[in-house]
Amino acid sequence: MSSAHAAGAHPAGEGAYTDQPIPNNLEAFWMPFTANRDFKARPRLFSGAKGLYYTTVDGRQVLDGSAGLWCVNAGHGREKIVEAVQKQVAEMDFAPTFNWGHPKPFELASRVTAMLPQPYEHMFFTNSGSESVDTALKIALAYHRAKGEGTRTRLIGRERGYHGVGFGGISVGGMVKNRMFFGSMLGNVDHLPHTHSLEHQRHSRGQPEWGAHLADELENIVALHDASNIAAVIVEPVAGSTGVLPPPIGYLKRLREITAKHGILLIFDEVITGFGRLGTSFATEYFDVKPDLITCAKGLTSGVIPMGGVIATKEIYDAFMHGPDYAIEFFHGYTYSGHPVAAAAGLATMDLYQEEGLFQRAADLAPYFEEAVHSFEDAKNVIDTRNIGLMGAIELAPREGAPGKRAYEAMVKCFHKGAMIRITGDTIAFSPPLIAEKKHIDELVGITREVIDSLD
Ligand SMILES: Cc1ncc(COP(=O)(O)O)c(C=O)c1O
Repeated sequence: MSSAHAAGAHPAGEGAYTDQPIPNNLEAFWMPFTANRDFKARPRLFSGAKGLYYTTVDGRQVLDGSAGLWCVNAGHGREKIVEAVQKQVAEMDFAPTFNWGHPKPFELASRVTAMLPQPYEHMFFTNSGSESVDTALKIALAYHRAKGEGTRTRLIGRERGYHGVGFGGISVGGMVKNRMFFGSMLGNVDHLPHTHSLEHQRHSRGQPEWGAHLADELENIVALHDASNIAAVIVEPVAGSTGVLPPPIGYLKRLREITAKHGILLIFDEVITGFGRLGTSFATEYFDVKPDLITCAKGLTSGVIPMGGVIATKEIYDAFMHGPDYAIEFFHGYTYSGHPVAAAAGLATMDLYQEEGLFQRAADLAPYFEEAVHSFEDAKNVIDTRNIGLMGAIELAPREGAPGKRAYEAMVKCFHKGAMIRITGDTIAFSPPLIAEKKHIDELVGITREVIDSLD
């Protein structure tokens, strides 16, 4: 008998050998970014997914208005990906990539870098967006050191940024609840102001006209610390998780000019905007602004197998390639970097994007989607609507004393009426899979409108 059991705790270790059924009461799984108590009291459980629809455990169809979690860009249950995964897992389940290799991640890195405008030639694999962000920050620091500029250690993020949940990511991120509980974050971090203003940008279509000057704040940060101490600036080209905030016209270009002038690296966190979300390969192509490093995840495998990556310019990579040739150039990596099954899923996903022209399809649907998002301008309690590519947001006024509750109720009600929407605070975000058609947008808007109108 284990000591935990003897002490009267959960009979740890005995479950593995018991022939009694293990109770499945939803309690054991501590759910991420979820109101656990409310969810477990009235769960929303899916058991299947095909195309644009989930099937619930009680057999209802629910339209996927958020591509899972901004990731299922090619739609659900795609046979090509399923077959590639099945084949790979049977052929070779795992091979390490520390000192060994197998062909698929090399091929996938070549495919991804080739879809981008040059000069992106290299890709480091991770398993998630959070890992991609922390990897990119480490590459930035190590790059400067490799170039003999080891004093460049300061990192600059932005208010209302979301860069995952690693300690690096929350340090440069700008969402208060991701930061306020964790005293030990990276020091040496500053934040640019966020770019959203209801006063100047309400109901903007695409990029707002007001706000490019906010990039100039970087000059103040440089004046305070001196450029010789600053390693990198990281931003989402379009902030996603804090409610779809498209960058003001000219803002990203200005950020690029200022960073380049001072030898500071620019990192685009494209975990959401990568792989067609804006109707182009990546946001770098959409905005015609070239950062030094690009993070990605989500759409890399269309959400099927966890995988992320950091895409680097030739210049960054080359800076590491010195010293004895038997020596490791960058002390970093994950057991599952370039996992064969994930890489197989990634390659099949790239095939689908290409064969079905899914990025172009997203671009073609974007104007219709824009009208749909802005049809909420006159809806009850709506204070702002925003969109770019296939990202859209409807911001609701918070209820007095209960911020976030109105949107939470909207999410729950939409689920019962047949649509899955994503919420953040009091903002509803739409990001349908890139295979969506006008009729799906109509259905999503119809259900959401009915729900919003019904809420007090
Ligand atoms: C811009 C951005 N960066 C990083 C992340 C973190 O990704 P993950 O949840 O895969 O760690 C996200 C997730 O939504 C994201 O939107």
